[in-house]
Amino acid sequence: MPNASALNARTRLRLDAAARAASQRAYAPYSGFSVGAAILADSGKMYTGANVENASYGLCNCAERTAIFHAISQGESQITAVAVYTPTATATLPCGACRQVIREFGPSAIIRSTCRGREVIETSLETLLPAAFGPEDLGRRPRARRVTRR
Ligand code: THU
Repeated sequence: MPNASALNARTRLRLDAAARAASQRAYAPYSGFSVGAAILADSGKMYTGANVENASYGLCNCAERTAIFHAISQGESQITAVAVYTPTATATLPCGACRQVIREFGPSAIIRSTCRGREVIETSLETLLPAAFGPEDLGRRPRARRVTRR
């Protein structure tokens, strides 16, 4: 299982920088709150995403989920770490919906939050969503995915 020891200092910096850069690509005309995320997949590859809003507000998609869907749709199946950047003075953590989506692919994922200010939070999915519902609760593990090699 991936854990904090799998992330070295260089990888942490790369993830944080990628999340911050991704926030520049947010589509957030309604909230004006541009968020960026970077995912480290088990393969070692990194994937980014930003929040994408919609005139029908309920369809807004958070940066974390954009990045996760990006990774999974590229053939990844497990997530080791999620970094999120928000344009705030203090660091913020993923919303409840994103925590549940992280749970699906990274039950032991490391979560990092950085912001415009100096604060950095590093925690784990287990801490943010303890006793979470997951694929195992359906009585079976998700079917192995066929990964298309790039
Ligand atoms: N948002 C994210 O992208 N990630 C978070 O962790 C919190 C909120 C987005 C959703 C919406 O586009 C905007 O920030 C305001 O909630």
